[in-house]
Amino acid sequence: MSNSIKKILITGGLGFIGSNFVRYFINKYPDCQIINLDKITYAGNPDNLLDIQDNPNYQFVKGDITDAKTVNPLFEQGLDAVVNFAAETHVDRSIDDASQFIMTDVYGTYVLLEAARKFGVKRFVQISTDEVYGEAVAVPCKEADTLMPKSPYAASKAGADRLVYSYYTTYNLPAVITRCSNNFGAYQYPEKLISLLITNLLEDKPLPIYGDGKNKRDWIYVTDHCRALDMVLHADNIEGEVFNVGSQCEYDNLSIAKTILDLLGKPHDLITFVGDRAGHVKRHAVNTDKIKNELGWTPETDFQTGMQKTINWYKENTKWWRKIKTCEYMEYYRTHYNLK
Ligand SMILES: NC(=O)c1ccc[n+]([C@@H]2O[C@H](COP(=O)([O-])OP(=O)(O)OC[C@H]3O[C@@H](n4cnc5c(N)ncnc54)[C@H](O)[C@@H]3O)[C@@H](O)[C@H]2O)c1
Repeated sequence: MSNSIKKILITGGLGFIGSNFVRYFINKYPDCQIINLDKITYAGNPDNLLDIQDNPNYQFVKGDITDAKTVNPLFEQGLDAVVNFAAETHVDRSIDDASQFIMTDVYGTYVLLEAARKFGVKRFVQISTDEVYGEAVAVPCKEADTLMPKSPYAASKAGADRLVYSYYTTYNLPAVITRCSNNFGAYQYPEKLISLLITNLLEDKPLPIYGDGKNKRDWIYVTDHCRALDMVLHADNIEGEVFNVGSQCEYDNLSIAKTILDLLGKPHDLITFVGDRAGHVKRHAVNTDKIKNELGWTPETDFQTGMQKTINWYKENTKWWRKIKTCEYMEYYRTHYNLK
């Protein structure tokens, strides 16, 4: 695969991880043509890629991955690879209404797979998630562990994850699946924990924390995830494989809140406990021996450094998040947390 990716389709490239990946990829492979297909949902933001929108090797297509009439012509042009980030991604919203999660995350993936099967690609990377495992009860989950997703979001992603695998086993589609832990970094929509806490604190607002705040996640800085995906995209002889991606850096929500409060010099009494999320997973954690041993990947940014960089980014980009926080977001936030 090494140098054979000349044209790549990235779906969901206006979202948090997708936009970080597009930027990473265009800088590393300036001669590769990138097509970014994104529906621009509430989470898709053209502002995320303003700096590269005029790059001659970057093409943006506004469209829905569930629409074969939009998807097929892109494959007809001849693609070497696909990275499918496009998804509805917020667990809380999936609890309120799962329908769009099933449409985009499962059916949308099916539409992409059908196009890839029909027109051919050299690699199809499916961005799955560690949430497909459900609880990491005793030890971090391994790739062969049973999938026991607990939220409609996680179940939709698990459906897509196994659908991709079935296209490998049934049609020999050269697909690879990644299951990453919780990402944080620049351009994350401020409904997700770390971006929510930072932006609330920059406005001296309370920090809503679910339940007792003891739910744990493994946190990875987004560019480490992008590097892992680059390796998965280019490695030879890994078709049909699943790779966990994570940083073995587990923190509960309360510790995260306290870290951010301390880094911003704000009082801890801004922590406000709110009713717990339904079916809230106590612990997500993944074993990453496989990607380390087989592809030589390791995370490079430790949690403290990543957090400081992230805080700095939100401080320097208040225009970016204030624009979001005045739109649909505020209505969702007020209804969901019953906070102003
Ligand atoms: N954020 C995390 O911590 C994390 C961890 C592991 C895996 N993932 C996975 O990584 C991917 C990206 O996550 P994110 O946090 O960047 O998400 P995000 O919500 O920030 O972005 C999702 C993007 O997909 C686009 N999109 C949604 N529905 C679409 C559709 N039908 N057609 C085309 N585009 C559509 C949105 O407009 C948006 O730009 C998702 O597949 C998610 O499941 C995320």
